[in-house]
Amino acid sequence: MKAILVRQSGGPEELYIGDAPVPELGELEIKVRTKATAVNRADILQRRGMYPPPPGASNVIGLEMAGEVVEIGAKVQKWKIGDRVFALLAGGGCAEYVVVDEQVAMPIPDHLSFEEAAGIAEVFLTAYQSLIWIGQMETGQNVLIHAGASGVGTAAIQIAKWKQGRIFVTVSTEEKIKACQALGATMAINYKEFNFAEKVLEATDGKGVHVLIDFIGAAYMKQNLNCLAVDGHMVMLALMGGHKVENFPLGKLLQKRLTLTGTTLRNRSLEYKRKLAQEFTSVCLPKFETGEFKPVIDQIMSWEKVKEAHEYIEANKNIGKVVLKVEN
Ligand SMILES: NC(=O)c1ccc[n+]([C@@H]2O[C@H](COP(=O)([O-])OP(=O)(O)OC[C@H]3O[C@@H](n4cnc5c(N)ncnc54)[C@H](OP(=O)(O)O)[C@@H]3O)[C@@H](O)[C@H]2O)c1
Repeated sequence: MKAILVRQSGGPEELYIGDAPVPELGELEIKVRTKATAVNRADILQRRGMYPPPPGASNVIGLEMAGEVVEIGAKVQKWKIGDRVFALLAGGGCAEYVVVDEQVAMPIPDHLSFEEAAGIAEVFLTAYQSLIWIGQMETGQNVLIHAGASGVGTAAIQIAKWKQGRIFVTVSTEEKIKACQALGATMAINYKEFNFAEKVLEATDGKGVHVLIDFIGAAYMKQNLNCLAVDGHMVMLALMGGHKVENFPLGKLLQKRLTLTGTTLRNRSLEYKRKLAQEFTSVCLPKFETGEFKPVIDQIMSWEKVKEAHEYIEANKNIGKVVLKVEN
């Protein structure tokens, strides 16, 4: 089969479409012919040699896909050939065929295309897990979502809006401010112009936010601790702004009884991913049917343009997802 491969660790020029073995089907798995996949920052890190796949996962990049079931394992009950599915993967999504556990695969809502469905799994499951399971967001709470116009950010805004939250986001441009407001953000702050913690505290009468979704790490840590509310939860998903914090203000953790959790979805157990996919299917997929939730797609490109897609995301240009249409 054809797959997006990496010649050697490095820049986007190392990506090419080449030949890879078709993955073997387990008895509780389905084989899916990929129609579309989407680019994630994890693919970029893996391409650079900085994020190897977890044990047992495919070496091919790609954390999600949407497509059509072409074969089912001996013990599969949930699916039949021809079903339209999308799924989160630990790797291998940028390929003509993937195999996925039958309980991790989810049905594509009828009105969504394969390209739209390919942009849901990674960002919505991450956002749902971070806000609801780990952040324990309750109805009507204040939340702060960094990188509001990112893939995960645009999903998190929609989930927080469903929970009737007061939603603060940070972004770098006016265009991203407008996009976040259109999705339901209460206040979008340009972090290049303002101290976001001051803005959040001003708008919340000094109370701060109950749940904070962070991708930035060191560069934001002090402001994050300043604008978390008492008993607040901060969920750390990435460290795009650095790993090391000088003079970490530990006292804030005690005074405000804060919970800081770091998490990665990719290396979670199969059981965890099954539970997350099933809960998401029953709680959130109906909201895609009604239009309350929607995949936010920046653009759809042929997978032959994967190099350009990586460059575009690395330049922070995307609002939502960049989807790759798999030509087969
Ligand atoms: N831990 C997990 O389970 C998990 C799961 C999914 C994703 N992630 C990670 O979460 C992050 C977001 O993923 P995504 O796919 O949603 O990202 P994305 O769509 O590629 O967007 C990332 C955005 O972050 C902002 N940004 C980048 N560097 C920054 C910096 N140094 N300071 C402040 N803002 C910065 C940029 O927006 P502005 O122009 O607004 O600055 C950029 O467009 C990635 O690092 C990804 O690997 C983690």
